[in-house]
Amino acid sequence: MPIIAIIGAQWGDEGKGKIVDLLAEKADIVARFGGGSNAGHTVVNPLGTFKLHLIPSGIFNERATCVLGNGLAVDLSVFFEELEMLKKNGVNGGRLYISEKAHVIMPYHYVLDGLEEEAKGPEAIGTTRRGIGPMYVDKAARLGIRVGDLLDKEVLRTRMEPVFQYKNDIITKVYGAEPLSFDEAYNQYCDYGERLAPFVREINTILLEALDRGEMVMLEGAQGSLLDVDHGTYPYVTSSSPMIGGACIGLGLSPTRIDRILGVFKAYTTRVGAGPMPTELLDEMGEKIREEGHEYGTTTGRPRRCGWFDAVISRYSADLNGFNATAITRLDILDKFDSLKICTAYKVGNTTYTRPPSNLKLLEQCEPVYIEMPGWNSDTTGIRKYEDLPAEAKAYVECIEELLGCPINLISVGSARAQTIEVKPIL
Ligand code: IMP
Repeated sequence: MPIIAIIGAQWGDEGKGKIVDLLAEKADIVARFGGGSNAGHTVVNPLGTFKLHLIPSGIFNERATCVLGNGLAVDLSVFFEELEMLKKNGVNGGRLYISEKAHVIMPYHYVLDGLEEEAKGPEAIGTTRRGIGPMYVDKAARLGIRVGDLLDKEVLRTRMEPVFQYKNDIITKVYGAEPLSFDEAYNQYCDYGERLAPFVREINTILLEALDRGEMVMLEGAQGSLLDVDHGTYPYVTSSSPMIGGACIGLGLSPTRIDRILGVFKAYTTRVGAGPMPTELLDEMGEKIREEGHEYGTTTGRPRRCGWFDAVISRYSADLNGFNATAITRLDILDKFDSLKICTAYKVGNTTYTRPPSNLKLLEQCEPVYIEMPGWNSDTTGIRKYEDLPAEAKAYVECIEELLGCPINLISVGSARAQTIEVKPIL
């Protein structure tokens, strides 16, 4: 049985939660590999509507084991809150494990995320303020606190005390803000450690043993490829790698073990936070997409920036990830448009770009080159077979497929599991 990775192909919020929930029915293991509670995965299933930030969306499959890999930024308050919420809704968290190597969000990460953003003023990244960037900074600086450290109170004190002092110096001396109480934080994290102990495992071993047994492993991506710390629109990115490479590192898996890399694309483009977005629509058309799609952040509630499908960033993402399967989500949001546009290239003066320039200033100047296609102006939410889609919708999807150069396997026409069209089998 294969490993299948579900990867966000744009700037996040592509609807990965639904696709994972759908495919997780067949999975034995669902693993998250990066990011943290900056993610917001909405899952609609017979139990209700759930917004998950940390726990894998595969938790609804009673058969599946869900794991959080070493690449995660774990906010323990969110972890326990989500567990509680799931339990109340009759979902058992007994098959949930977390890597001892995963790093933990500390109180100073939250505080510094806010202080750093405010200090940047108009240059702010527009982070989710969940402490993600400051935590990954500490990981790279070898100042991080890992899940395993919480299991031994003495180790935790030895690791935490000097870092805490250093962070309080930054908070007070650089930003002039109030220091945090070490004792309060230490006691809280000792308590977290006790509650977390039953969930802590060597995740890599769990995965390799499952593969040896021939089980199906699904890797659940968070954020999107254009937010990748290396390949995204730096510095307007997150601080980890949401791409397939990040999945390998964030779980300790060799790339040769991964059979399917499924890119999830929204049928149009959205972005939250600052940074270039060449197809952004600042007019009533952008407003219409936002309202039709209820495009407001799952994590922060911020209105998402909306625009036409950008095949330039999408092809770039497909190339970098090597997608050999794709899902197009939210096609139904385009049901009420007379005509639609797809961006096929960018222009700056007389120069045409078919890949996004990595020079941010240049990317900010890029004007989209569009092709225009007729809309279908009819309700697709009840359609379950590809051949039943209106001709204009099929033409739109096929145009995207050709521009991406990889097969479209699934089309989502609503948030419920059933509102899915299988165009080609994925496995
Ligand atoms: P951070 O990950 O909170 O540091 O935020 C960095 C950038 O990534 C900001 O523009 C966020 O809006 C964006 N971002 C982070 N997580 C997500 C996500 O799950 N969906 C969409 N955007 C995200």
